[in-house]
Amino acid sequence: MSTHSDDGVAAIASTCDARARARLASAAVAVAAGFAMLPSNAPADELIAPLEARPNLGAPATAEQIAGWDLSIGSDGDNLPPGSGTAARGAEIFAAKCAACHGADGTGGLNDPLVGGHGTLASPEPVRTIGSYWPYATTIFDYIRRAMPYPEPQSLSNDDVYALTAHLLHANGIIDEDFVVDASTLPAIEMPNARGFESAYRERSR
Ligand code: HEC
Repeated sequence: MSTHSDDGVAAIASTCDARARARLASAAVAVAAGFAMLPSNAPADELIAPLEARPNLGAPATAEQIAGWDLSIGSDGDNLPPGSGTAARGAEIFAAKCAACHGADGTGGLNDPLVGGHGTLASPEPVRTIGSYWPYATTIFDYIRRAMPYPEPQSLSNDDVYALTAHLLHANGIIDEDFVVDASTLPAIEMPNARGFESAYRERSR
């Protein structure tokens, strides 16, 4: 059973708690508004509030979650995942998941042609495909894994994406049918238009 004096202590404690919360709330508003200013009369230890009293800014991302977003592949093949594929397997997947939009032979349909256009870039009607125009083979892997098939992005396995990349490179006459595309062979493929670009950074192009 609590005494009168215990109640007084409890009341003072809860007043302090309310003040600390009010300071924290105003600090949170200041941070949210872009001002990293703290109320000048707030002792630092009052601002280190228990987790449940802090603004709800989320939790640190796990390594697994970050890996799911960390998809970008450098033109030199940096960050290419394990796996491999050849054109024959890629042709099967292409027929099932890509041909409806890009044409059975990849030369275009409802959407972009992915095959052909070689030798047309300097003509009055250039046909820019991943084969005739793109400077890096690694970008084909990156793009397909990231964005295709259009209605179901990121639904393909890495082996499927390697196989599709092999199929499209083969259909463009860039690799042989039995060439195994993987993290070490893909960056070494020289694309037909690899030298058709100039660096936007002058000092680097020297
Ligand atoms: C429902 C239609 C559809 C399907 C299915 C589809 N695509 Fe695409 N694809 C598109 C569209 C639309 C674009 C252009 C997207 C843009 O520019 O934002 C595109 C662009 C591309 C490009 C880039 C072409 C360029 O020159 O910029 C590649 C490569 C590609 N798709 C590969 C594939 C592959 C491989 C598959 C099968 C796994 C596939 N697509 C399935 C609609 C589709």
